[in-house]
Amino acid sequence: MFPQTYRKFILTQFGEDFRACTKIVTTPWQDPGPDEVVVKNIYAGVNGVYDFNMMRNAVDYIKFTVPTDLGIEAVGRVVAMGRNVKTVKEGDAVATWKVGSGYRDYQIAAASRIYPIREPSPEILTLIPTGVSGKVGIERVGEMKTGETIAVSAAAGGLGHIVVQLAKQAGNHVIGLAGSDEKCALVKSLGCDRAINYTTEDVDAVLKAEYPRGIDIAYDSVGGRLFDIFVDNLAIRGRLVISGYTSEVGKPLQMVNAGRPWTKLYFKSASIRGFINPHFQEFWPDAAERLLTSYYNGALTVLVDPTPFTGLEAIPDAVAYLMAGRNRGKVVIKLDHTN
Ligand SMILES: NC(=O)c1ccc[n+]([C@@H]2O[C@H](COP(=O)([O-])OP(=O)(O)OC[C@H]3O[C@@H](n4cnc5c(N)ncnc54)[C@H](OP(=O)(O)O)[C@@H]3O)[C@@H](O)[C@H]2O)c1
Repeated sequence: MFPQTYRKFILTQFGEDFRACTKIVTTPWQDPGPDEVVVKNIYAGVNGVYDFNMMRNAVDYIKFTVPTDLGIEAVGRVVAMGRNVKTVKEGDAVATWKVGSGYRDYQIAAASRIYPIREPSPEILTLIPTGVSGKVGIERVGEMKTGETIAVSAAAGGLGHIVVQLAKQAGNHVIGLAGSDEKCALVKSLGCDRAINYTTEDVDAVLKAEYPRGIDIAYDSVGGRLFDIFVDNLAIRGRLVISGYTSEVGKPLQMVNAGRPWTKLYFKSASIRGFINPHFQEFWPDAAERLLTSYYNGALTVLVDPTPFTGLEAIPDAVAYLMAGRNRGKVVIKLDHTN
C-alpha cells in the first residue's frame, strides 16, 4: 500500500536565511512512468554549500524558479516500477543523484539514473555523488599521476577525505589541510603524509619550507586566502583544481589587488582549472562503479559524520552544522517516514 501523499523539503524563496527560505510540504503520490521507478529515500546526503547557493540563487549552471525541490543524493529502496523497467526489482537498494530528489520521503527516478547498491547505508552517500566528483576532479581535471605532491583542502570533509585516499592510493605524497588537530589526526589516519592545521600553522610558510619544489596538484574546495596560497605554491606544470569555495559562500566577493594571473602561471607552465561535476557526466558511471568496488573490497575508508540528523525537519540544522565547518566526513539526513 502506498501513501496518498508524502513530504518533501522545498525552497520557497531566495534569500539569506536558510530556515526562513525553506519549508516542508506534502505532495501527492505519483505512479512511475514506463521507464521510471519510485524510490523510498532512507538517507539523503547534505550538500550545505550547494543548498546555500540555491537559496541565494547563486548556482550559475542551472536556471530554476522558486518554489523548487531541494536535496540531491539519496539511498533507498525501489518500491514501485514502470512496466519497461527490467534492471531492478521491487525492494532493491539503489543510490540516486539528481537535483531536487534528495530531501523527500519518496522520489520518482529514471531507471537509467539509479545505481544498484548492496544496502541503502549512509556510507554510500560519501561515494555517490561526492566521491565521484572527487575522483573525476582529481583524475580528469587535475590529471593526477604517480609520484606527485598533492595538497587537498577541507581534507576531513565529505569530498576531501575521499580525494586524499585516491591521491594516496595512486602513489602520491599527500598534504591534507583541516581546521583542527583532531581533523588533522583523522586525515593522517587516512594516509596523508603531512596534515596542516590551518588554524595554528602558517600554510604558506609550511609549503615554502617543506615543499620548495611546489605542489603538483592543489585540490581546493575552500577558496579565499587558501586559493591565493595554492596559486603561489604551484610547482612547474602544477594544476590548481577549483572544486569549490566554501570559505567565500554567502560573503561579498573580495576584490584582490594583484597582477593578472598569468604573471604567476606562465613561467611555471602552471594552470588553474575550474571543475563542476555536471560538465563531466560521461565519467560518472565508471567512477561510481570503481568507487563502490573499492569500498566493498575494503580499500576505501568512508567517513559519515557521527552527528545524527533525523527527518526533514533536521535539514536546516544539518546545513548550518556543515556551513560552520563542524563536520568530519559526509553529513547525512536519516529520513524518518513517520509523518
Ligand atoms: N566541484 C564539484 O563538482 C563539487 C562536488 C561536490 C562538492 N563540491 C564542493 O566541495 C566543497 C565541499 O563539500 P562537502 O559537502 O564535502 O563539504 P565538507 O568539505 O564536508 O564541509 C565543508 C568544510 O569546509 C571547510 N572550511 C574551510 N573554511 C571554511 C569556512 N570559512 N567556513 C566553513 N567551512 C570551511 C571545513 O573544514 P576545515 O575547517 O577542516 O577545513 C568544513 O568542514 C563545497 O564547497 C562543495 O560545494 C564541489
